[in-house]
Amino acid sequence: MKIITTIAELRAHLAAFKRPAFVPTMGNLHAGHLALVRQAKPLGDVLVVSIFVNRLQFLPHEDFDTYPRTWEADCQALEAAGCDVLFAPSEQELYPEPQGFKVQPPAELADMLEGHFRPGFFTGVCTVVMKLFACVQPRVAVFGQKDYQQLMVIRRMVQQFALPIEVQGGATLRAADGLALSSRNNYLSTTDRAEAVQLSQALQAMARAVRGGIVDVATLEQQAMQALTARGWQPDYLVLRSRHDLQAPTASDITTLAQQQGLVVLGAARIGHTRLIDNLEI
Ligand code: PAF
Repeated sequence: MKIITTIAELRAHLAAFKRPAFVPTMGNLHAGHLALVRQAKPLGDVLVVSIFVNRLQFLPHEDFDTYPRTWEADCQALEAAGCDVLFAPSEQELYPEPQGFKVQPPAELADMLEGHFRPGFFTGVCTVVMKLFACVQPRVAVFGQKDYQQLMVIRRMVQQFALPIEVQGGATLRAADGLALSSRNNYLSTTDRAEAVQLSQALQAMARAVRGGIVDVATLEQQAMQALTARGWQPDYLVLRSRHDLQAPTASDITTLAQQQGLVVLGAARIGHTRLIDNLEI
């Protein structure tokens, strides 16, 4: 595996390849990331993974400074997973001056759910992903489905800018108890880790109710929020949405969408000091 830290060197190295496959990450890699890497491996003639903790997608009170940085372990894991090129630019390399030009996704995609609770998050994500795409010029890029809204926003960005990149989603990996793997799981205390599975269980209960024919979405969502709150969580949202655009389905659409496998439940909630997100397609 070649480790490259400058855009110039990356371009020179990738000039020899026709179809780079790309997995962007912020490091602190777990089995979920490595599954994306393995998914991407056969899709191109060279596999590039980036590690860059992107300041632009963190709010001032969020965990940019404390975001886990595990360089040695990440390098070993990537090498073992078949990564050919690890692109790890410094902040100075990727943002040599304040990033004045930004990619701002439309409000109807990016101001709800995660974007509502983390204003500016998707502008930060789209800006860095666009810049990483400009550096790597991949033909295919793989993003985790755990960040469901992020995947949708990036697909739309690629489509609207007519970027010649195929975007693939990678399935969420889960711990044995069902907790979705996430770098932020590292923040959980032992007690909170035991409790954390309740988020995916809440989503499963919502999915069961919808499959069982419940169409009163407002009550379903409210009850799910109340149940988690009663256990000591601070939920941001637990919602049923259309997979296509993440808009709330009308009561009359639910049955049809459920039959067409067109629904997803999404949740974000804080347990202790840790904010977790998860989703489940129905
Ligand atoms: O999902 C992530 O890890 C980040 O949002 C991404 C896509 C690497 C952009 O910084």
